[in-house]
Parts: sequence; structure tokens; C-alpha cells
Amino acid sequence: MNIDVFTLFPDWFDWFRGQRHVANAIAAGSSLSCVDIRAHTPLTGGQVDDTPYGGGAGMVLRVDVMDAALSAHYRVDPVQLRQRRRVIALTPSGRLFDEEYANELAEEREITLLCGRYEGFDERIVERFCTETLSIGRYVLAGGELAAMVVCDAVMRKLPGALGHEDSALEESYSAALEGAPEYPHYTRPAQYRGWEVPDVLLSGHHEQIRRWRMAQSARRQVHAAGEIEVDKGEGEEGAR
Ligand code: ADE
Repeated sequence: MNIDVFTLFPDWFDWFRGQRHVANAIAAGSSLSCVDIRAHTPLTGGQVDDTPYGGGAGMVLRVDVMDAALSAHYRVDPVQLRQRRRVIALTPSGRLFDEEYANELAEEREITLLCGRYEGFDERIVERFCTETLSIGRYVLAGGELAAMVVCDAVMRKLPGALGHEDSALEESYSAALEGAPEYPHYTRPAQYRGWEVPDVLLSGHHEQIRRWRMAQSARRQVHAAGEIEVDKGEGEEGAR
């Protein structure tokens, strides 16, 4: 898979590219490239943004600047570009990013992420050049770069060769194996620590009971995550959080 990130801060991604699962995915044939938006601006003095029409605080990333950056990189009119790859603007008001969205993107051969800064994008960038908008949560970051890294992290760890053990992403939170529920709790040595014990069932060696306990814990966390009041069902399921 090839991911292109259009950003005003391409160096931020140098550290990210060195992280193990990202480096592994790249070594296995995927790519994560950054395009410096400012390097392509047709305006003087490296200008990329402007004040909003109608007034108001902040600066808005200009449509002519994004047009120039996309055109220079892909050598095609960005209006056409979105017919052949997903071009995603990162913005707090976009489609909420979740595991399903990450799975969807991991299936793509190539995607483009556009990072806004300041007050965000001139709306014509979204309307004319993008296939969609993506938000990593209902809060406002100073720019899209950290959001792009979140997306790349969640997507790239799903790519071939990214994780050490091929099956380590199989039974994790929100996976099909757990019917979309959060993952069950894990414990490791020591079995006793400051009087805190590991649930007996995990030490029992009884695989079927362990499987059932884990599924029950996972379902219980699902209820918790949905914000419902947890009722003690009296089933003695110690260790749930
Ligand atoms: N840019 C600023 N805030 C953002 C958010 N929450 N998600 C995606 N991009 C953003």
C-alpha cells in the first residue's frame, strides 16, 4: 500500500517512519511519503494560507496552493485524481475514524491524506479534490499531522509484515474474532503481586473455559464502552474492568 501525506511539516513524519511496525510495513513493500505543500506554492514568500472571507479568526489553507501541490505531485488535475484514489482531508468535522474505517483503508492500494493547519481548508479543496473527510475524534488539534499519524499507525499495522507475529492482530479489540467487541484483559508473570492475583481460570490450563471467560470479559467491556451502567450479574467474573 502507498500512503502520501500532504503536509506543511514533512519532517514530523521522519520519527514516525522509524517506528517498528511502520518500518516493517515499509520494508515489506508499502510506502509512506510526505509532500511539502509549501514547496509547491505559486505565491511569493512561501504563502500557503489566507484570512477567511466574511471575517473571523485564523487562517485558511488556500485552494490554489493545494491544487498546485497535488498537480505537481501526481501530474494530473486533482479534480480527476479522486476518481482513481481516495483523497482524504483530515478535519475535526469528518467521518469518525474507527477500526472499520481503518480496515477499509487498509484494503486500498493507495491513499492520499491532506493535513490542514490553522482554521483548516478552503471548502473547495474538500468539495473538488477530496473523496471524503476524516476526524480522529471530536476535538480540535492544531493541525492534521497527528491525525494522519494516527490513521497511518492504525492502517499500517494491518499491512503484511508489519507485526512480528502474523496472528497478533487477529484476536484484538474490535476484530471479527471478538465480534467487534473490545479485547479481554491480559495478565502475565508474576501470578501474585502485592496480593493482586491473576484470575484462576487463566492458570487452569483449561482452554475451553479460558476461551469462554475471555469472550465474556470482552462482551462485558463492550457494555462498558457503550456507556451503559454495568450491573453485577453475580457471575463472579473477577478481574473485569
Ligand atoms: N485536524 C484538527 N483536528 C482534527 C481531528 N480531530 N481529526 C482530524 N483532523 C484534525
